Amino acid sequence: MASDTNELGDILDASDLRAAGARHTVTLTLKIRRYNPEVRGEESWWDEFEIQAEPDDRLLDALHQVKWYHDGTLALRRSCAHGICGSDAMMINGKNALACKTIVRDVAPKVTVEPIRGLPVLKDLIVDMEPFFAGYRSVLPYLINDSGEPDTERRQSPEERHAFDDTTKCILCAACTTSCPIFWGDEEYVGPAAIVNAHRFIYDSRDEGGRDRLKILSEKTGVFRCRTTFNCTEACPRGIEVTKAIQDVKRSILFDRF
Ligand code: SF4
Ligand code: F3S
Ligand code: FES
Repeated sequence: MASDTNELGDILDASDLRAAGARHTVTLTLKIRRYNPEVRGEESWWDEFEIQAEPDDRLLDALHQVKWYHDGTLALRRSCAHGICGSDAMMINGKNALACKTIVRDVAPKVTVEPIRGLPVLKDLIVDMEPFFAGYRSVLPYLINDSGEPDTERRQSPEERHAFDDTTKCILCAACTTSCPIFWGDEEYVGPAAIVNAHRFIYDSRDEGGRDRLKILSEKTGVFRCRTTFNCTEACPRGIEVTKAIQDVKRSILFDRF
């Protein structure tokens, strides 16, 4: 990254430049994998765009710049721009990440952007998420409790809450599932995101559907497809210990005699 100096020769960082009101930009080349069956049939291709961006911009800002000022046909999904909605997972320099959580200074001067793997590409960076959500729905990812309404709130100790705290953080971005080599080769595998969301309810002391979920995940499409390669944990933008959650579920199936 190019650096600036003041009149005394001191190197100025981005915050110095902001304080001085200066607009400091870097040149960023985006190499983007494109796909549009209406234009070029089934062949994908690469396009390159050179833009000026501020080092603290997010990669999502850079993609917006491409779409708004260079090529309006570029297709991508995004919504919140703050790492919460999970809609802009893509492969950035060969690794799954959210464009809105990737900072330009960390990828400049050249970045490669591709759609996440293992799901059908519809156009450019947009994939068909339906197979992913089908896996998610299959594990009953909601609270099940048929005991009727209690007279008071359903209380939980800090320890009971802690048992599933990590897996409540999932934003369903699919970065984990689409980084899993087992999922790439076997579309029947429910994938790590579905298991994370099953974990969130299996270990919730207020829930009564754990046995049903463990039964579903003990089937051949479930947790025992996992070969503990840890790609999912590395890919998760929320820092969830995905592989540990999968191990918890495997252990419950093997030893808790559900
Ligand atoms: Fe995304 Fe992490 Fe949830 Fe997987 S576990 S879908 S990577 S937030
Ligand atoms: Fe896949 Fe994660 Fe298991 S990457 S093989 S689900 S540890
Ligand atoms: Fe919502 Fe990135 S746009 S997570």
